Amino acid sequence: MTDIIGYLKSNLTTSFIGKEVHYLAIASSTQDIAREMADRGAPEGTAVIAGMQRSGRGRLGRSWLSPEGGLATSIILRPAMSAVPLLPAISALAVFRAIKHLGIKAGIKWPNDILIGGRKVCGILIEHTMVNGIVGYSIIGIGININFDTVLYPEIAASATSLSVELGHELPVEHVALRLYTELEDLYLLSENPEVILDEWAANMITIGSRVKVQSGNRDIEGIAEAINRSGHLLLRRDDGTVQEIVAGDVSIVPDSGKK
Ligand code: BTN
Repeated sequence: MTDIIGYLKSNLTTSFIGKEVHYLAIASSTQDIAREMADRGAPEGTAVIAGMQRSGRGRLGRSWLSPEGGLATSIILRPAMSAVPLLPAISALAVFRAIKHLGIKAGIKWPNDILIGGRKVCGILIEHTMVNGIVGYSIIGIGININFDTVLYPEIAASATSLSVELGHELPVEHVALRLYTELEDLYLLSENPEVILDEWAANMITIGSRVKVQSGNRDIEGIAEAINRSGHLLLRRDDGTVQEIVAGDVSIVPDSGKK
């Protein structure tokens, strides 16, 4: 699996994402390793990959299962303030495009989960470090289930899938990483055209038009996910007709609600 570094060094044509790339067979969390590197001045685009994580972290304080066969990677970005709100869309789209390239139809669940047939194949955790009141750097943490059978892991068996389950065969993790870093760089370089990014993100968002439950803080809010606004926030039409803007939260599609 350390071959992944050799493969990326020989084949990656990006100008900064993944140009510096570190591989660990096993790590606590690639987020923490990337953060230490960023603190020591690692250049923008530096990527960390782990073969397995002992303490993979998810959004909203959850853990992230990272067995062998997955791609667990964290990428250091040093974004302009204007690009920071676009990072969920950019990272979700990069994964979406990389999976589409394999011939698999996936969808994005707001803000940046990637699902295939309603099952999660990828989760993204974005963490920012503030320096003098502005974002000094952001760590984009991406976990993609690639070559393992999710059914063997009871904690995710009902809700997750993997690329090998969907394709019926395994595939080289390094091919997925190469495509992911390439798409991520292409999209990140488009940050000055937020409309292009937000439109493609919204167009592939399975959440839109569905009845959803949003867990935001310690509240559950239900309604129809109507649209994404220009800030990337979810607009939820509640049953009393009011529209609520959701900035962050965990969305689940209410079963059998169909699309409006
Ligand atoms: C989520 O869906 O809750 C986000 C999951 C993010 C997982 C990735 S794997 C690489 C990076 N390292 C971590 O500890 N978490 C992220």
